[in-house]
Amino acid sequence: MFEASVYTHRRNALRSLLKNGIIFLPGNTEAPMNYPANTYHFRQDSNFLYFFGLTQPDLAGIIDLDNGTDILFGNNFGIEDIIWMGPQPTMEERAALVGVESTHPMDELKNYIAETLAKGRQVHFIPPYRAETQLWLSSLLGIRPSFLKNYASPQLIRAIVSLREIKDEIEIIEIERMVDVAHMMHTTAMQMAHPGITEQEIFGRMEGIALSKAHGTSFPIILSVNGQTLHNHSHGNVLTQGRLMVSDAGCESADGYCSDITRTIPVGGKFSQKQKDIYQIVLAANETAIEESQPGVFYRDVHLKAALMISAGLRDLGLMKGNVEDAVAAGAHALFFPHGLGHQMGLDVHDMEGLGENFVGYDEEVHRSSQFGLAYLRMAKRLKPGHVITVEPGIYFIPALIQQWKEQNLHAEFIDYAQVEKYLDFGGIRIEDDILITPDGCRILGKPIPKSVADVETEVSRGL
Ligand code: GLY
Repeated sequence: MFEASVYTHRRNALRSLLKNGIIFLPGNTEAPMNYPANTYHFRQDSNFLYFFGLTQPDLAGIIDLDNGTDILFGNNFGIEDIIWMGPQPTMEERAALVGVESTHPMDELKNYIAETLAKGRQVHFIPPYRAETQLWLSSLLGIRPSFLKNYASPQLIRAIVSLREIKDEIEIIEIERMVDVAHMMHTTAMQMAHPGITEQEIFGRMEGIALSKAHGTSFPIILSVNGQTLHNHSHGNVLTQGRLMVSDAGCESADGYCSDITRTIPVGGKFSQKQKDIYQIVLAANETAIEESQPGVFYRDVHLKAALMISAGLRDLGLMKGNVEDAVAAGAHALFFPHGLGHQMGLDVHDMEGLGENFVGYDEEVHRSSQFGLAYLRMAKRLKPGHVITVEPGIYFIPALIQQWKEQNLHAEFIDYAQVEKYLDFGGIRIEDDILITPDGCRILGKPIPKSVADVETEVSRGL
């Protein structure tokens, strides 16, 4: 947790962006796995974390826009809790840690909200993404759960995005610490990537590092020799010599700051020439995209530059043909690169996605495309100093998509399907780094994780 003044400053900054009423930020509650007392690993809501910093369940924060006060609602622990949980701080003690002077028991929240509404004051809230929070807000606000999103405050969403998307130094330190733990996770995966081992063993080791050196993973680990499936969460395969393995994983700190890194590894330690040819295209797209990421540049244009490089590389290998600018304008590259170049990252691995992706990655200057591939781009707007972004180009050979496009003769002027079919068992390659936009460019966060062909091969050959 940061010093109390950090949270006070953040709440005051939010207060300065809105007028009239109160801001209501509910924290998360415990979520049961298979019976009420057996709960999932608790994760606090990131907006609550940002403004109120406390990582315990069953809290709610209020920022009063009119009288300048902040309130925390939550209960003190009784002797029965303490028997099971050990001594616990009081609500007053917890509130003091984040600079809040006023606390109330949770059962007073309903009356507080009712009185606020009765006075005609606005209650600004963000759209809840968990069923239990939807039911809670529904009963407090008298709005049916399915209608809550219609009453969420766009002013509050925009104000939160404008603050959370600019990371300050203390946040960057946390994110870089998490990239350094991701370094350990990914180099371990490389060292373990030898024939005969299962994906599950590598997955378990990576998850263990995230738990022992950080606070767990920032999203379920994607680790597969079937890297053509973008988010492959099954880990049942045995690694065989010469196969490529995609490893997309990161971790989060106790305060919720994330990392998100992808590497692609040749099982056994040597890329074949065919793999190297595709790998070098993705690597060049990753490196060029990083070079092009600067303040004032639309990230959509960086995405399109990566798409151009991928198309030119595939044309040189005979898989694509024709004019590459026209191919990218038509969306033909999306057969191989069907996702966006990246997303913002911070307290959420897809930062603030719960507020609505269009509020985070798009604005009045840039609207989401409906074109297949480009439509999945999560971050398109102009880059600003303080943005933390992932840069994650990839090339995938997805048999079902290739078959579908071929049957439809889609973009046949740009794609040589006979050549593409020689890659149906290739898998996929993705290379991802986390970068900070600086006043004069950007920098890659954390300790460099092997990425060149030679460095990845050397890391694999080290063994574990
Ligand atoms: N790295 C996983 C994701 O961005 O969804």
